[in-house]
Amino acid sequence: MQDLKKYIQDNKDRFLEELFDLIRIPSISSKEEHKEDMYKAAGWVKDSLLKKGADMAEVCETEGHPVVYGEKIIDPELPTVIIYGHYDVQPVEPLDLWKSQPFSPEVRDGKIFARGADDDKGQMFMHFAAFEYLVSTNQLPCNIKFMIEGEEEIGSPSLGKFLEDNRQKLAGDVILVSDTAMLGADTPSITTGLRGLSYCEVHVTGPNRDLHSGLYGGAVANPINILCDMISSLIDDKGRITVKGFYDDVETLSENEREEMARAPFDEQAYKKSIGVKELAGEQGFSTLERTGIRPSLDVNGIWGGYTKTGAKTVLPSEAHAKISMRLVPHQNSDKITKLFKDHFLSIAPDCVKVEVDFLHGGEGYVSPVDTPEYQAASKAYEKTYGINPVPYRSGGSIPIISMFEQILGIKSILMGFGLESDAIHSPNENYPLSQFIKGMETIPHFYKFFVELKK
Ligand code: BES
Ligand code: MN
Ligand code: MN
Repeated sequence: MQDLKKYIQDNKDRFLEELFDLIRIPSISSKEEHKEDMYKAAGWVKDSLLKKGADMAEVCETEGHPVVYGEKIIDPELPTVIIYGHYDVQPVEPLDLWKSQPFSPEVRDGKIFARGADDDKGQMFMHFAAFEYLVSTNQLPCNIKFMIEGEEEIGSPSLGKFLEDNRQKLAGDVILVSDTAMLGADTPSITTGLRGLSYCEVHVTGPNRDLHSGLYGGAVANPINILCDMISSLIDDKGRITVKGFYDDVETLSENEREEMARAPFDEQAYKKSIGVKELAGEQGFSTLERTGIRPSLDVNGIWGGYTKTGAKTVLPSEAHAKISMRLVPHQNSDKITKLFKDHFLSIAPDCVKVEVDFLHGGEGYVSPVDTPEYQAASKAYEKTYGINPVPYRSGGSIPIISMFEQILGIKSILMGFGLESDAIHSPNENYPLSQFIKGMETIPHFYKFFVELKK
């Protein structure tokens, strides 16, 4: 593939223009008012796949946002690689913190700035470009299917059914995904683990209306004070989650495996500096990479109630609310943890308030073995581009559909992500360095080649 780098260089500007057209569609899956944009983005994905050489591509209805499916089958005897990506993005608030508009992509300092620049429009598009290259230069070594969804950022609620209904269509040997990060621009790595998730909303109700905090304060329980007490009791002074039974199924790694993990290059000083904190915090007895990679966590994502506008209002509020998420590790089951959490949270509620827990969404974690042809193919592909072996590492993030692929279709995934910690995904000023975009496009075609060789 000597012409690969030249092809990317020659077509880079056009690729960027194409990607920017997709980025300009504000496909925010969590907001009802963007429903039409979801169809626009799905249509764009379908058209792009056809332009780049797919035999067929279609927008498939689901119970939620549509899935785009496309394929190029060159020989049924050859292996089939399924490319997964998502065209939906996260909300953009707070808008005033963006240097340029989130849906007006712009290149500054060698980086694309926009919502979706990395997660996942930019990373997904690397696969479209690589596909175009392989088809147009007649070097495609296997069959390719694309499954691009629009519900990843809301937990893929309709995708289980979609997979069950489309087993035949989605038959394949491996799923290839670029929707994760590498340890650093010069530290190629392959994500071998994802965490699961259980996401709940809790409601605490006290008096039947907001009260005067002078007339009633001290005599009536304040739902916000109570909620804070309840939340702070969820993690003890050793950083352990206090929900009864929470750790029962947590996988324990052998000392060997932990030593292996500790070999991943990780600069804790730089990590702290990049997020502006003096000290890190977490479960005692575990390193930072262990805390995010192999240990579960519990976080309040948002908390509200009472008076929060400017100035002072003396009020004892009637209600308090919080969004609480738990990241889970292999063997913990999302439904089981949700039930444990709910039971625990209700059991610690004092009688002076009413407490309710709603489940929002969840998903299971994932572990990728390293002794498979697909992992070896990915490893060799990175080596080809970077000149060094990639490091396997477990990420703290979640992609719920990856475990569904395994459970429903029986197909393993390879997480070949090219994002960087500094890409600020989900945050204001999300960005994706052009150098990562190019490295990704250069690496992907090698995966196909090695995979087909190793499968023989
Ligand atoms: N692409 C991310 C997940 C990710 C990013 C994994 C970086 C590893 C490294 C994905 O789009 C995402 O944001 N997932 C959500 C899942 C949730 C909304 C169900 C997450 O992890 O919060
Ligand atoms: Mn993503
Ligand atoms: Mn995301």
